[in-house]
Amino acid sequence: MSQALIRRAEARDAETLSRLSAETFSATFAHLYPPADLAAFLDEAYAVERSRGHLADPATATWLMEEDGAAVGYALAGPCGLPHPEVTPGCGELKRIYLLPAFQGGGRGSRLLRTSLDWLEAEKTGDLWIGVWSENLGAQRLYERMGFEKVGEYAFKVGAALDHEFILRRRR
Ligand SMILES: CC(C)(COP(=O)(O)OP(=O)(O)OC[C@H]1O[C@@H](n2cnc3c(N)ncnc32)[C@H](O)[C@@H]1OP(=O)(O)O)[C@@H](O)C(=O)NCCC(=O)NCCS
Repeated sequence: MSQALIRRAEARDAETLSRLSAETFSATFAHLYPPADLAAFLDEAYAVERSRGHLADPATATWLMEEDGAAVGYALAGPCGLPHPEVTPGCGELKRIYLLPAFQGGGRGSRLLRTSLDWLEAEKTGDLWIGVWSENLGAQRLYERMGFEKVGEYAFKVGAALDHEFILRRRR
């Protein structure tokens, strides 16, 4: 088990978060999109202003995972924004969980996921939800082990490209 430290991200972490978000998304998914679509998505989704907004929002929480003082991963959780008819205002969503490639597969992601789910369980009154790319089988296995099951599908926009995503739910 790694000695990585998990801590809640604060306002001063906005730049680090945006940089890490773009780097980890690109490392995971860049090969799937035309460069212009990827660039448009990264600019919009991971702008520093967006990170500042998440960090200032009390309904949302971000964690950084640090190893030897450097950020190697993060998770973002908050109100559920997934398009499913049974989502209610009290529902929570794990919105993102990413580690840099060199730090994957060593148990760190499971720890980060547990931290996020514990917070969601404590803060939200409804069920917990996750959206995951239909072909991300590794992440789906991890979520399944944590009690999530597939209850729907939707399309996620990356630039002009549309991804096929699964909607997962864990009931209370
Ligand atoms: C998903 C992720 C956070 C899991 O963290 P991790 O530290 O690699 O995972 P752990 O070592 O705790 O292993 C738990 C499970 O995660 C899954 N997993 C492992 N490596 C993975 C990878 N590279 N991509 C996706 N899932 C992975 C597997 O189900 C693994 O269990 P298994 O070894 O029994 O198959 C991490 O692998 C990652 O950042 N992947 C790329 C980004 C991503 O896919 N994020 C999820 C988007 S919804």
